[in-house]
Amino acid sequence: MATLSTAPVPVRSPLPAGLAGSTVVIIGGSSGIGLAAGSLLHGVGARVVLVGRDQARLNGAVDRIRAEDGPEVLAAPADGSDEQALARIFDRAGSVDHVLVTAGGLAGAGPVDMLSPETVHSTLHGRVWGAIAAVRLAALRLPVGGSVTLTSGIYTIRPVAGAAAVIAAIGAVEALTGALAVELAARRLRVNTVRYGSIDTPLMRGAAGITTDEAAAQAGAGMLLGRFATPEEAAATAVFLMANNYITGQVITVDGGQGLA
Ligand SMILES: NC(=O)c1ccc[n+]([C@@H]2O[C@H](COP(=O)([O-])OP(=O)(O)OC[C@H]3O[C@@H](n4cnc5c(N)ncnc54)[C@H](OP(=O)(O)O)[C@@H]3O)[C@@H](O)[C@H]2O)c1
Repeated sequence: MATLSTAPVPVRSPLPAGLAGSTVVIIGGSSGIGLAAGSLLHGVGARVVLVGRDQARLNGAVDRIRAEDGPEVLAAPADGSDEQALARIFDRAGSVDHVLVTAGGLAGAGPVDMLSPETVHSTLHGRVWGAIAAVRLAALRLPVGGSVTLTSGIYTIRPVAGAAAVIAAIGAVEALTGALAVELAARRLRVNTVRYGSIDTPLMRGAAGITTDEAAAQAGAGMLLGRFATPEEAAATAVFLMANNYITGQVITVDGGQGLA
């Protein structure tokens, strides 16, 4: 169990290779950015534990990562806001060094006059409690030098109409980042968030009605850098935040300049 410590956070290689031999739980690991993070981490020799709600999607993700040589790949179904189910997964995994939370979608989107209290509550619960639950589990289990990386989106700084509840939820995740980083620092654990722009994932394609690579290229051409980000470009920042033991409480933006335009 991680304890309060007066020793400084340990020094180790801040390069992704420094994560070799560690175990990373990815809540939201069966698709998109989380799956890409799983592949990158597996590639540098980390053991990954993929969590998502749909077992078939998890199986497909495990097969995809296992196709490359490397350490063990585990998977278990759970909702990211079910703390007890997540606790069982952490326990089964044995040691866990880092946690990445990418779980989330567009549930809760809709014009403000159509929002119900139930929708707002469940949207906030999924994102905010999901982040807090992950950090609570990490606080009790991760060794010093461990980290939690959360996820938000560019809508926090460039809002769009019809997404107030979702934006409130991801904004809260950003606000939590510093609060939880300060709280976990005494255990020498770190908390950061990656704020994403348009990343070419199943979620983004589904939301934009994009069904082919050609349509994705065409839609992405209007971006400042002329295309959407790949899931790997998005995931690499989460891996960087895990690896660098001296970054905490930060919200790092990966949006190809979308926030400027
Ligand atoms: N792609 C973008 O352009 C973009 C932009 C800004 C922010 N983001 C954020 O980045 C994160 C990842 O997005 P993505 O594009 O990689 O999406 P994605 O391809 O749909 O992947 C989302 C993953 O999270 C899992 N998941 C969703 N809700 C969950 C829940 N309640 N409990 C457990 N697992 C859950 C999904 O599996 P199951 O559905 O089987 O549970 C899946 O593995 C999301 O939080 C999204 O809001 C994405």
